[in-house]
Amino acid sequence: MALSQSGPARDGWSSRTAFILAAIGSAVGLGNLVRFPAEAGENGGGAFVLFYIACVILIGLPVLLSETLIGRHGQAAAPESFRKVAEHSRKSTAWEHVASLGVLSAFLILSFYCVLGGWVMYYIGIFFADIFNTGITGGAFAGVSVQEVEGIFPAMIANGPVTVILNIVFLAITMYFVSRGVSGGIEKVAVYLMPAFFVLLVGITVYGLFGGAIDQTWDYLFTFEPEKLTGPVMLAAVGQAFFSLSLGVAGMVTYGAYVGRNVNLGVTSGVIATADTLVALLAGLCIFPIVFAAGLSPNGGLGLMFQTLPHAFQEIPGGTLIGLAFFIMVGFAALTSSVSLLEAPTAWVIDRFRFTRPVATVMVSVCAAIVGTLCALSTGSLAWFQPLGFIPMFEGMGVLDTLDTLTGKITMPVGALLTSIFIGWVANKRLVDLENGLGGVLHVFWRFLVCWLCPIALSAILLVGIFPSIIE
Ligand code: PFF
Repeated sequence: MALSQSGPARDGWSSRTAFILAAIGSAVGLGNLVRFPAEAGENGGGAFVLFYIACVILIGLPVLLSETLIGRHGQAAAPESFRKVAEHSRKSTAWEHVASLGVLSAFLILSFYCVLGGWVMYYIGIFFADIFNTGITGGAFAGVSVQEVEGIFPAMIANGPVTVILNIVFLAITMYFVSRGVSGGIEKVAVYLMPAFFVLLVGITVYGLFGGAIDQTWDYLFTFEPEKLTGPVMLAAVGQAFFSLSLGVAGMVTYGAYVGRNVNLGVTSGVIATADTLVALLAGLCIFPIVFAAGLSPNGGLGLMFQTLPHAFQEIPGGTLIGLAFFIMVGFAALTSSVSLLEAPTAWVIDRFRFTRPVATVMVSVCAAIVGTLCALSTGSLAWFQPLGFIPMFEGMGVLDTLDTLTGKITMPVGALLTSIFIGWVANKRLVDLENGLGGVLHVFWRFLVCWLCPIALSAILLVGIFPSIIE
């Protein structure tokens, strides 16, 4: 049994730090900055947050390590890596279809993620223009009514040409970096943008904390009220943990494939999960003080970032600049994630059809632009098109919401569930142990989580996601 790979020199991360930054870049994204605070707001603050942290440690982290180790062992695109692990374990190579499903999920998420990236670019433009209208000292949007500020969002998402063009621009930027390869493009985005992201996040958080409202924020985020920990809240927390760690979509398998053998995957996965969770918590500590200081109450959903926050920036000193810095920061996070979403299907096209990287990147991007256009229009003129509307769980949903729900509630949990079964029960134990970099108690605990807790919890999530009436 061959436990190590050799072959032609491949492009890969130039260092362990580059891999960690790129993986953190993939994990930290709109999920941390838009979804996490909004979900915490919608689902009762502390109950959600604490359960979320438990999910990251007990379910997310074991699957993250499983995915990166499959990639590192296979040293190839995700399906090929699954196939190699299966082959070297003398098991059916049909397991590669788990990764094919992941590649498809990554593609679908990419298609709507870039639409959201386009919205963020729109807000960067709005705050930038506001510097010339309002100046930089007072609150943002001087002389503009609250209704108008909050009305920017519905007007933008209903404007088809704007959302379609911005989606394509965001996708084109993503495509540029992916087409330049792992060390020449993907890694560069992470190495430059992630530090800039952290500086902005910490800077805005400190600013918000000085504005007061820290007590209110702390109570809101960390007061644990067990009665608020209901079935739907737990479900939301688990789903968010997976989305946030970029799991179940072949992305981390793909990134793992470019990691050298000298890297301890157990330790690095811990670093990645910790950083991702800290950013989610910091995002809460960054956003809510600004919202509370402006005397507003946090709402859930996209309205928190695109309506409540711009309104809050109106009320605080220097709101234009802080708002601009904030949306630039969100844009950086979105780009390092979209790059990983594009890389998974691109690596697959390169491996499978032997196209050059630039050709493969353009092909996948064009397809994503087509699906993305449907997503971009689904919040406006194409809202009537509800492709899976005949199924209760997709009722009333346009293309964007349908893809979000389909990936978040079905394909990602299925991918993660099958990955944990594959690593826990199917793959050769010696092969897995050689790759995972864990020892002693940690190793036993990880095995228990991958073999038992992850499959059981993920099956439950899947069932409840598809048949919500089970817990109603
Ligand atoms: N983790 C990203 C976020 O929190 O926004 C989203 C994501 C990126 C999901 C990459 C999946 C993925 F492969």
